[in-house]
Amino acid sequence: MKATAIAHANIALIKYWGKKDPKLNLPENSSLAVNLSNLTSTTTVAFSDDFDEDSFSINATRENIEIERLIAHINLIRDLASTKQKVKVVSENNFPTATGLASSASGFAALTLAAIAALGLKLSEKELSLLARRGAGSACRSIPDGFTEWVAGTSDKTSYAQTVFDANHWNIAILAVIVNQEKKVVSNTVGHTLAQTSPFYQTRLLRVPKKIKAMKQAIEDKNFALFGKILEADAIELHVITLTSDPAIIYWDPATIRIMKLCQTLRQQGLPVYFTFDAGPQPVLFCLQKDAKKLETIIRSTKGVLDIIVNKPAEGARLIDKHLF
Ligand code: DP6
Repeated sequence: MKATAIAHANIALIKYWGKKDPKLNLPENSSLAVNLSNLTSTTTVAFSDDFDEDSFSINATRENIEIERLIAHINLIRDLASTKQKVKVVSENNFPTATGLASSASGFAALTLAAIAALGLKLSEKELSLLARRGAGSACRSIPDGFTEWVAGTSDKTSYAQTVFDANHWNIAILAVIVNQEKKVVSNTVGHTLAQTSPFYQTRLLRVPKKIKAMKQAIEDKNFALFGKILEADAIELHVITLTSDPAIIYWDPATIRIMKLCQTLRQQGLPVYFTFDAGPQPVLFCLQKDAKKLETIIRSTKGVLDIIVNKPAEGARLIDKHLF
């Protein structure tokens, strides 16, 4: 009754922002993402009659855990297996939790896969993705391999992510740049609700299907300049929505803007690098793998940069034999 899963965080290329159904995490729009090789959550789950209560620890602490959200997710899985057994969950992120580096995506993907396996249930990748989505919307994209598309769908059974290109499709590097290690002030759940208050939100929703099509084509053609142009435009558009929500949410820090400008300068100097970010201050930079070392050196010496995690496209969630307890 014990299983361990590892899942990667993913960064959206075309963003999910706003929900049609907050309870089911049905998004207003489809999205595209890629899994990140060096940002992982590893989670061991056990169910037993011997446990008196549910217990959760993340990075060896019980603090800062959204306990109700976790229990709600475990309850969905307990219902699937018709069990009332209590659970023990131990999870480790290899990166700071809740700073906009998508810990909820890798966390809920690993939790879902480990809990399903611990109860001896067998689900398809699609069913795992549907279920992970209930924990955190973006978690559905951390189940399949590589570059993924989350098709918005219209119901609990039609909203899930699948691979569009596998992890080996393209030799790109993805640098997650940490410029702020404080916990986020506004949760994504609140941000998604506020999206509707931006006067530009409906316009964005109309634009997304075309962007997804163009982005998929750019990835298929390995057209890095076009890929980067669509990537940056969508990241900026997400933040235009948050900046024009009521109340406004300002996620960027001075270092975020410094790095956006630096990307433009580096491109003028012949180094192709493009930025994105989620709902947070951390820039995530895309370059070709051959340029990754050079770019890392430049970014490390930039004011305000605390750390960099260099990634390539990664596989989906999977079970491993090494348990955390
Ligand atoms: C800006 O998946 O964290 O990163 O469904 O409320 O858990 P919940 O939200 P979450 O939202 C992610 C938003 C985003 C864009 C994206 O990943 O597509």
